[in-house]
Amino acid sequence: MTSIHFDILTLFPEMFAGVFEATIIGRAREAGNVEIALHNIRDYAPGKHRVTDDTPYGGGGGMIMKPEPIFNAVEAVLGVEIPGEGYPSLLEQGYPPLILLTPQGVLLKQAVARQLLAHERLVLICGRYEGVDERIRQYLVTHEISIGDYVLSGGEIAAMVLVDVITRLIPGVLGNAEATHKDSHSAGLLEYPHYTRPAEFRGHGVPDILLSGHHANVQQWQRRQSLRRTLARRPDLLANAELSEADRVYLADLGDTPSDLNSDLSDS
Ligand code: ADE
Repeated sequence: MTSIHFDILTLFPEMFAGVFEATIIGRAREAGNVEIALHNIRDYAPGKHRVTDDTPYGGGGGMIMKPEPIFNAVEAVLGVEIPGEGYPSLLEQGYPPLILLTPQGVLLKQAVARQLLAHERLVLICGRYEGVDERIRQYLVTHEISIGDYVLSGGEIAAMVLVDVITRLIPGVLGNAEATHKDSHSAGLLEYPHYTRPAEFRGHGVPDILLSGHHANVQQWQRRQSLRRTLARRPDLLANAELSEADRVYLADLGDTPSDLNSDLSDS
């Protein structure tokens, strides 16, 4: 059985409770597919007051997370002494990746999650405040990941997202029905529209073809809707999608499809 052990270093371990107990992650933990250990960085801060942040050298506003508590936490959690040249050199010796969640990191995509699945242990470090002391980046972490081009109040929510995305990919975590659903997504296209009962809701129907019971026609309709939607909303995805000759002909016939998304929300 494949399983992954996550160590999460955070100043706010209490944020994770609900997310890690419910539904798929909760089930995966019970089944032993994932283990999650939360570590409070404050416990590794020296001194009576266990200070974890300080003002930046050179001035400027905001508080910076100090290096010592985070280095100490990693050493304690992994039972390793970080050598002079820094932790990254230990990666080759089989020590797990240390991942800092930060808006400056590599953008999280399905492909990034799939690569991380190769490790049986991952250490996630959640930044807070204005940022972390640069020596954490230089001499401790091995990877930096961002979940999107926006600024969260800290890395905790990003760590939850990363654990969720990876957990779903562990073989055996999703049931068969869910896994089929996942497959259609991993082909690199957006999902086709879904409907369920009732067949008529407040005067709005369901496409006839879905009620026809004609499996091949339904499949063709779903594939075409996926292509149409991806072209309209995320044409950038088509470059890496697995497309058949029939898909390409269909897309070429569609030509320019205007986006059906709210035009008052711009991504630029
Ligand atoms: N911390 C703050 N913002 C973040 C983001 N977008 N991704 C990952 N970590 C973050």
